[in-house]
Amino acid sequence: MNSNTAQTASRPIRSYVIRSRMTPAQKKTCAAYMDSGLVIPVPETGAPRPLNPAEIFPAPKEKYLVDFGFGMGRSTALMAEKNPAAGYIGIEVHVPGVARLLWEIHNRRLENIRVIHGDGFAAVRDMLAAKSIDGFHIFFPDPWPKKRHHKRRLLTEGFLRLLASRLKTGGYLYIVTDWQDYAVQVEEALLGIPELPGVPAPAARVPWRPETAFEKKGISAGRSIHEIFRVSEQLS
Ligand SMILES: C[S@@+](CC[C@H](N)C(=O)[O-])C[C@H]1O[C@@H](n2cnc3c(N)ncnc32)[C@H](O)[C@@H]1O
Repeated sequence: MNSNTAQTASRPIRSYVIRSRMTPAQKKTCAAYMDSGLVIPVPETGAPRPLNPAEIFPAPKEKYLVDFGFGMGRSTALMAEKNPAAGYIGIEVHVPGVARLLWEIHNRRLENIRVIHGDGFAAVRDMLAAKSIDGFHIFFPDPWPKKRHHKRRLLTEGFLRLLASRLKTGGYLYIVTDWQDYAVQVEEALLGIPELPGVPAPAARVPWRPETAFEKKGISAGRSIHEIFRVSEQLS
């Protein structure tokens, strides 16, 4: 099994770059919304502290869906607005993106989004309990296109296995990328995870997925969009 380097290395190789510089408008948004009680930081200790998804929302939800690496959060907000019965847990390390999603939450008066801020690998490992999640969305993960940077890619077999362990039976994993070699890498890794069975064939776009800026950029650069959708099965 490939391990996730972010998990095991003494000097971790991260799937992201911290970009801390913010515009004055982003700083203002941060100051206004960061302490709104909607943000749950990733604990730095690395000790397991599983959240009960039902307890982080004001009322229990029909489903708990995770939007991993939501970027500026617009698609998270649009999906949550259309599906108020579901609780959305957005995970993002980039502060301006977190602030922007908080702004969307306030602006659209959404009650069904909570944000985990920090390294999402640690968040999934330490904060999400086994079989507690109905769906993971990973839309346009950073592609790290240069070969020497492939080790930074988030979606290793180790991480996919971790995601599979957090899904309820019948829950889904939905990945979209505009980088063909990354899609192939993910499909190959999934072959080693029998809880997420499926044939490596293009999945259909789900109608409720909003188009993101990264998708538009990929299309205008002439790349095609690869959809990977798997449903978790109970192994007997
Ligand atoms: C290319 S962007 C895609 C954003 C969004 N999903 C979209 O489609 O517009 C990838 C995002 O994943 C975030 N990210 C990458 N690795 C992460 C990690 N380990 N934990 C949390 N966020 C991460 C980055 O900060 C970035 O915002």
